[in-house]
Amino acid sequence: MRRYRLAVIPGDGIGREVIPEGLKVLAAAGKRFGFTMETTEFPWGCSYYLEHGEMMPADGLGRLHDYDAIYLGAVGDPRVPDHVSLWGLLLPVRKRFDLYANVRPIRLLEGVTSPLRDRGPEDLDILFVRENTEGEYSGVGGRLHAGTTHEVALQTSVFTRRATERVLRFAFDLARTRRRRLTHVTKSNALQYTSVMWDEVVEVVARDYPDVHVTRLHVDAAAYQMVLHPEGFDVMVGSNLFADILTDLGAALQGSLGLAASANLDPTRRHPSMFEPVHGSAPDIAGRGIANPLAAIWSASLMLDHLGQKDAAAAVFDALQRVVRRGEDLTPDLGGRRTTRDVGDAVAEAVRP
Ligand code: NAI
Ligand code: MG
Repeated sequence: MRRYRLAVIPGDGIGREVIPEGLKVLAAAGKRFGFTMETTEFPWGCSYYLEHGEMMPADGLGRLHDYDAIYLGAVGDPRVPDHVSLWGLLLPVRKRFDLYANVRPIRLLEGVTSPLRDRGPEDLDILFVRENTEGEYSGVGGRLHAGTTHEVALQTSVFTRRATERVLRFAFDLARTRRRRLTHVTKSNALQYTSVMWDEVVEVVARDYPDVHVTRLHVDAAAYQMVLHPEGFDVMVGSNLFADILTDLGAALQGSLGLAASANLDPTRRHPSMFEPVHGSAPDIAGRGIANPLAAIWSASLMLDHLGQKDAAAAVFDALQRVVRRGEDLTPDLGGRRTTRDVGDAVAEAVRP
């Protein structure tokens, strides 16, 4: 029996409600496919911050290092500034473990009415790759004369050729496993240094992938096209900020943020990869038991795929697709009346043989 060691960080708000459902489904998949998940829970996040003055202990990253994977809910609490919570936990994990490819599937499931009403699942199947270690989220900058009328704030984007090239190669490789179409998101008309270098690196890498059809789109045009012609996209790749924004747009096309899943991958496998729903802690619905756990469960499927449990990953995805298609066990964001736990139970049940 294969054993995996899983570090679990439920985090804040609905993170704590959706992660138990994902663990429930993972346990069901383990029973069927013959593996166990040995989980260790880390109570880090904003409640931890309010008590200890830090989002995680100083040796937190070191303690995560030896796990096979990290499963995270969401961090964020109205009592803690968002830049404190984000820079205290999530961004350090992504950077320290070099989780340079953030992969986010955007698919329309059978049974969901998308805002693109007369479209079907065949029209929306995008795999988005977000550069996850630098770019606009490098954290370089500062504030001068803070609080005065002549205050200056600088937030510098840092793009390295190395990080740009490796995430592009990763995206090209993914395109080869799919429909061989790659759209790269840029803004090289206005950003004449960072985005122009990005475009040049695309050209160089593309020479190694003559079988992949490459399209360049400026980020504003990409937002427009994703709504009007989603069927034209296969793999998309973009910088940290551009892909952050466009994948929330993608979640809207899917019908709910409660369906948007994400994998933060270190493709070299030197460090544990991290799997988390795209959504945040949703303070507006936290504690009511109505958060949609499907994004967390779909993320668990991405984790199984990364761990080499391909059949189990497919079975979990298939189970969640069957639950959505049946339409009986859905949370309010998808027009249903069921609780977070009901939906987790239904998917776990559907995973059992
Ligand atoms: P959010 O994703 O938490 O919520 C946006 C909207 O979508 C809300 O109306 C919420 O009720 C709804 N929603 C989100 N997930 C849902 C689910 N599973 N089921 C049903 N409805 C769902 O984003 P928001 O409100 O901008 O941020 C709230 C907090 O979360 C902030 O502190 C923010 O910094 C943090 N955040 C953390 C992230 C992370 O840990 N990866 C990502 C995004 C935000
Ligand atoms: Mg985001």
